[in-house]
Amino acid sequence: MRVSVIGCGHLGAPHAAAMAELGHEVVGVELNPETCEILQSGRGAFYEKDLDDLLAQHVATGRLRFTTDLSEAAAFADLHFIAVGTPLRPDGHGYDTSQVIDAVRDLAPLLTRPATVVGKSTVTVGTVARLQAVLAEHVAAGADLVWNPEFLREGHAVEDSLRPDRIVAGLTTPAAEKAVREVYAPILERGDTELIVTDPATAEVLKSAANAYLATKISYINAMAEICEITGADVTTVAHGIGIDHRIGHAGMRPGIGYGGGCLPKDVAAFTHRVGELGATGASALLSAVEQINHGRAGAALALVERAHGGPLDTATVAVLGASFKAGTSDVRSSPALRLAGLIHDAAARTVIHDPEAVPAARRAHPEFTYAESLVEALRGADLVVLATEWPHYTKEPSLPATAAGLVRRPVLVDIRTAADPTGWTRAGWTVHQLGRPAHHPIV
Ligand SMILES: NC(=O)c1ccc[n+]([C@@H]2O[C@H](COP(=O)([O-])OP(=O)(O)OC[C@H]3O[C@@H](n4cnc5c(N)ncnc54)[C@H](O)[C@@H]3O)[C@@H](O)[C@H]2O)c1
Repeated sequence: MRVSVIGCGHLGAPHAAAMAELGHEVVGVELNPETCEILQSGRGAFYEKDLDDLLAQHVATGRLRFTTDLSEAAAFADLHFIAVGTPLRPDGHGYDTSQVIDAVRDLAPLLTRPATVVGKSTVTVGTVARLQAVLAEHVAAGADLVWNPEFLREGHAVEDSLRPDRIVAGLTTPAAEKAVREVYAPILERGDTELIVTDPATAEVLKSAANAYLATKISYINAMAEICEITGADVTTVAHGIGIDHRIGHAGMRPGIGYGGGCLPKDVAAFTHRVGELGATGASALLSAVEQINHGRAGAALALVERAHGGPLDTATVAVLGASFKAGTSDVRSSPALRLAGLIHDAAARTVIHDPEAVPAARRAHPEFTYAESLVEALRGADLVVLATEWPHYTKEPSLPATAAGLVRRPVLVDIRTAADPTGWTRAGWTVHQLGRPAHHPIV
């Protein structure tokens, strides 16, 4: 099939590459000329596992190309994915949907034959109805609108685009359903991905509800960590024990500094606002509590760092390992690691940040921080090491605790992601602090 992907950022670039991998001819439209040029050279404009390989492969064959020219995509494709951003409005009152509205309004008059417009951006319930009107008003030929929210996980964006756990399509016509089944046929034929065909409002709510549930799970286990902190209990044992009940499960139950990134914080905030507007008071109260707990995590993490140091940090040198909001991506949007780094930066004598992939993006967002070129440089002379992002470089490297012990001034690790196994570190002489757990002391 000939498809276009309009908006080639963290969602659109992996999606365009995945569509080419599935056998479609793809044109990606990206407004930012710099990003477009990088993509057309066969690379991602950010780090995402496996993305560069897929882009290079399909740009080289010509099955995938990128342009800034929307009319090129309109002339070429029969199905157009919309993957532009939906940031939170500055006042926090829902999404700024202008990118989505502009993309649909600009595309519509350029369509010279019947087409399918498939929205993947995350929007709140009610947006698709507005977009239907925009499309109908501006379209020259016939066009169907489908809402097909995306559930990919950053750090696994390529894998999740090629093998999604579900495909949700909110639509109103048989022709739209036919187009969705055709574009996703290579995935659906494998038989392990469920296609949920529904109405647009259900698709919109389903996406918001999924993100709200993930956020709720994270805030729930972090609330339990707070209780464990006060009582001296161990939250990881609590999480393990309650997760054995399959109705609860273990996924997403790792205590830590809370959720971040380009999706959950804004999606939960926008949904909270929308359900409030709709008068759903129970949902509004629940989601507000989820957000409030999440906002408190950076302060809780800083308090742990200070306790681990034995008092204020004003004379301390702190190494912060990790800047991206999670491992596997260079995305630093609403990164809890950088939020904590900022608090430490304000409190400590010296703060040095390391990240295997996200330093350029972190430096653009926070030029005021100090960044290390290497892990050794970050660790050398530190009074305290804070593991802020769960990169395998920090958690799965068996020689790191011993190497790091030889570089730091004091072997004290504060693992705010509950990602490190304390055994290896304590054997190498470290004291390990994690949120909601008693400290682990060196094994002598
Ligand atoms: N990032 C994720 O993992 C993820 C997962 C699921 C859903 N989503 C949703 O997908 C949407 C996009 O998110 P993102 O993280 O990719 O954002 P992003 O900011 O990384 O990418 C958006 C891109 O769209 C481009 N753009 C904006 N208007 C355009 C236009 N008219 N024509 C062409 N390009 C245009 C921007 O230049 C930018 O590169 C959001 O609604 C987000 O909530 C994202």
